[in-house]
Amino acid sequence: MLKVSSPANIALIKYMGKKDHILNKPSNSSLSWTSDGFVTHIEATKNNTSAWEPLSGPYAIQLNEKSIDRFLVFWQFLRDEFQIKDNYLIKSNNNFPFGCGLASSASSFSALVKLACAIQPNHGKSLSELALLSAKGSGSSCRSLIDGWVQWDDSGVSNVSDIPYKNIIHKVVILEDSEKKVSSSQAHKNIQTSLLNTGRAERAEKRLIDLKSAFLSKDWQQAYQICWAEFKDMHALFETAMPAFSYYNDQTQLVLDKLQVYWDSHVDGPLVTMDAGPNVHMLFREDQASACDNILNNTLNGFKVL
Ligand code: PMV
Repeated sequence: MLKVSSPANIALIKYMGKKDHILNKPSNSSLSWTSDGFVTHIEATKNNTSAWEPLSGPYAIQLNEKSIDRFLVFWQFLRDEFQIKDNYLIKSNNNFPFGCGLASSASSFSALVKLACAIQPNHGKSLSELALLSAKGSGSSCRSLIDGWVQWDDSGVSNVSDIPYKNIIHKVVILEDSEKKVSSSQAHKNIQTSLLNTGRAERAEKRLIDLKSAFLSKDWQQAYQICWAEFKDMHALFETAMPAFSYYNDQTQLVLDKLQVYWDSHVDGPLVTMDAGPNVHMLFREDQASACDNILNNTLNGFKVL
């Protein structure tokens, strides 16, 4: 039996919109943190046919037929690319809820790439080549192949090693753990109908430059403001698409308000962002461990946080 695992990642500068919907070429560069607390585990054994089954665990995944199909079509693509002759029964689970804006596609598709590498260790492919393959399964998954801060742009994926914050504490306020109604693949298409999509790529590129410079000058508050503007920009695209859609639920705004109040009174706090889902992500610096406890036990007391 082969066992592999792969982490999710959370983007601070978002990949939303594609130049090419088959190759999943992003309209703009993105920057993310690879989060080793949120992981997909795979166990694979040789089998007569290619198949997927849930692996037992706290958040055993129940994929619908369409998702199983997408997973196995991508696996077949990898088998061809890696010249894998044998069939495998692939069992997987996540240590976090599935399909609700916690980047489960990033961890699961990158885990499949790692499985192909484990089956064919002499594949001879570079990291950039692996990233391109992974991005075909799910664009954001290519960033999960690298630890820490990762930039994905026209030249591929790379670690941004000069960001001075190394050990980020990543927490997610889980406001809904059922599967989202509009998949991120659909969102990438639907946002093209928003008038705000004009200039979106330029805004994201500008924020990427500004965010990296805020990090380099250790201006955490500036970084917080850029990240806030960035996720709001992405969600504004959703909310002004035609037809409009939204990932917010009735608790999302409340949590965002509480975090803003926290920032206002402490002049410090976590970076806050949201993916294509209702849950709220918080990224704390290493030296903010006690602020993190304070927020979990007081500001967000009663909310489920992973
Ligand atoms: O990788 P996809 O196609 O599921 O797109 C996900 C994009 C976002 O998660 C919404 C943003 C990002 O950059 O991760």
